[in-house]
Amino acid sequence: MNKNFYITTPIYFCNSNLHIGHCYTTVAADTLARFKKLQGYNVKFLTGTDEHGQKIERIARQNNMQPKDYVDSIVVWIKNLWKIMNIDYDIFMRTTNDNHVRALQKIFKKLYDSGDIYKSEYEGLYCTPCETFFTEHQLVNGKCPDCGRDVEKIKESAYFFRLSKYQDRIMKFIEDNPDFIEPESRRNEMINNFLKPGLEDLCVSRTSFKWGIPVDFDNEHVIYVWFDALLNYVTALGFMSDDNSEYQKFWPADLHLVAKEIVRFHTIIWPAILMALDMPLPKKVFGHGWVTIDGGKISKSKGNVVDPQILVERYGTDALRYYLMREISFGQDGNFTNEALIKRINFDLVNDLGNLVSRTNGMIQKYFGGQLPDYIYEKNARLEKISLDTVNSYENLMNHYKLSDAITEVFSLVSFANKYIDEIKPWALAKDETKKNELANFLYSLTEILRIISILIYPFMPSTPQKILAQFNFDAQYINWDDAKKFGVLPKNIRAIKSDLLFPRIDMEKELNEIRG
Ligand code: MSP
Repeated sequence: MNKNFYITTPIYFCNSNLHIGHCYTTVAADTLARFKKLQGYNVKFLTGTDEHGQKIERIARQNNMQPKDYVDSIVVWIKNLWKIMNIDYDIFMRTTNDNHVRALQKIFKKLYDSGDIYKSEYEGLYCTPCETFFTEHQLVNGKCPDCGRDVEKIKESAYFFRLSKYQDRIMKFIEDNPDFIEPESRRNEMINNFLKPGLEDLCVSRTSFKWGIPVDFDNEHVIYVWFDALLNYVTALGFMSDDNSEYQKFWPADLHLVAKEIVRFHTIIWPAILMALDMPLPKKVFGHGWVTIDGGKISKSKGNVVDPQILVERYGTDALRYYLMREISFGQDGNFTNEALIKRINFDLVNDLGNLVSRTNGMIQKYFGGQLPDYIYEKNARLEKISLDTVNSYENLMNHYKLSDAITEVFSLVSFANKYIDEIKPWALAKDETKKNELANFLYSLTEILRIISILIYPFMPSTPQKILAQFNFDAQYINWDDAKKFGVLPKNIRAIKSDLLFPRIDMEKELNEIRG
């Protein structure tokens, strides 16, 4: 198969360290990208950093740093985080890249020449200490919502993008393409809350600060950070550069994965910019929910409990990734708690998956001295059917981006296999010499189920499958999609190797005391 698949995360603001909520978007995208790669797609997975704007300029100043030095330091930190989270991206896009800056200036000029960008005056309520414009309804008791001081009416010369011109076309596009925005609730929100009330032209330049891409024909102005950031999805592929072959190959994007509060930028402003440039629109924007704490937004003040680096150190990358993808129904908000994370580890990963692996391994050791003998192979039709049903259902769910449902399906197979052991009672078969063939077949089938489970969990927990297979002396070549729908792939004389537990059990009380300090 040679089909291309282009998937993106938002590019992350470089103004603070990322928390578990940011990891959620990236892990979800990585899971989908790995799944598509597994299926044989030629995948391009983009993530990166959004490095301009007044906020970043200000934070750099507070740190006594030049903005570029400051964002460079944050980028090192973020790249390290993605390494820790085992994020296998293909492109790490930075909006300070020369290529992006040059392309953006050309795009801005092109839209100015075509009349879709024009110069006018921005009139708004301005807070001078904060150097920020606000609208009437953003004010708190008539004062600046950030610092509480008085605001003043100010006029500033600015460039505008003719967003209003594209209102009808965007509405028609969203109506004609019901799959463009998912989940459906977000689509309705865009239509009812933004498109129906009417779109206003968008101010796309600022003169009140310097840290941005300059409008090259009018140097007082820097380009608005969202205009700058959205275009990364195409400049990353070489759009408006000397070599746009990747753009030709991968655009339009198959999936922009974003959290709900930035769906508007991706389904209204971004399509309008693309329409103005006469470019194809992305195929889908999926707006997932938020990871919340106590039902509210995550903030740094929550400290340790949401620091992804600390969580990975304590529980491992795969366990954390599993929890994030399993616990929160994809598309909905979901509350993060350390208790729920530990429960998922102890119940699903230790009791269910870990136990299935160690029981299967242990029985091969105990009943056959570590290696299945020569035996007459008989296909286990029941296990074959249930495994293949799971693979089909998983594939269908993954194709529809139902990540939590897909991984739940896999763990139903794990539970089934554990129950099946109790039903077959291999310990009874082992006592009967005439049942040795049956017992060997049974253990072979269990190992086959583990092979299939390993393939299915791979996109979610990329390191665990190899550990499972290694317990039976197999390597990663068995993690391939072609074999997921087959039963009876492994060589018959399976060898089990004495191994450590797949996941260690966590003492909930001790753990909660330690992590909460
Ligand atoms: N820079 C913009 C995106 C520009 S894309 C052209 C931005 N950056 S962000 O760093 O604030 O957020 C990046 C992503 O993380 C967004 O999808 C954002 O909504 C998501 N999340 C931030 N906190 C989150 C949670 N608590 N839960 C889930 N996603 C969260 O927006």
